[in-house]
Amino acid sequence: MALFVAAGVAWKLAHPPTKRDEEIPYYSTATHAVAVRASELIDRYSCKDCHSLWTTHNMFQFVPAPMLDGIGSLRSEQWLYDYLSAPNPQAILKTRLKPKYRMPSYAAMPEPDRRVLASYLSSLRVKNWYLDQTRKLEQDKLTGSSTAAN
Ligand code: HEC
Repeated sequence: MALFVAAGVAWKLAHPPTKRDEEIPYYSTATHAVAVRASELIDRYSCKDCHSLWTTHNMFQFVPAPMLDGIGSLRSEQWLYDYLSAPNPQAILKTRLKPKYRMPSYAAMPEPDRRVLASYLSSLRVKNWYLDQTRKLEQDKLTGSSTAAN
């Protein structure tokens, strides 16, 4: 995810803006009801103390956590539910961060709340053209070539 963000930023720097770049590449397929409940939970559990979402996060905290925009293009609803339910999330996603910055366990969160969050997070998508560009940039960085065949 960090690479993904870094790639997006690097791509922006390397390419002068076109009409397409000005489009916001993130969107949600959630119903209004799910979005409202999920936003309420995201506030209540202070997810934005660490994560950015809709490119904003709380002003007085800065933790290098992956941004949640577009997360549903990378993770399934089931994966997200299992991750939020894990007693030790670091058993699923390894971390290099100090304990206080790591993803906390939300295993004790009421089950319906974990379901709503998983449903909402999986609805957060990134448009294909943006993914394609960031993947291509990643490949350029790794191979030193933008015309690599595989
Ligand atoms: C104390 C900071 C902190 C808080 C609060 C926090 N997270 Fe995290 N989260 C992280 C970090 C850091 C990671 C990356 C894994 C790690 O280092 O443990 C992460 C990982 C994730 C991932 C996986 C991202 C990926 O790349 O697949 C999801 C999804 C997520 N968090 C959702 C949430 C939600 C939803 C909440 C609120 C209910 C929340 N987080 C609260 C710090 C936090």
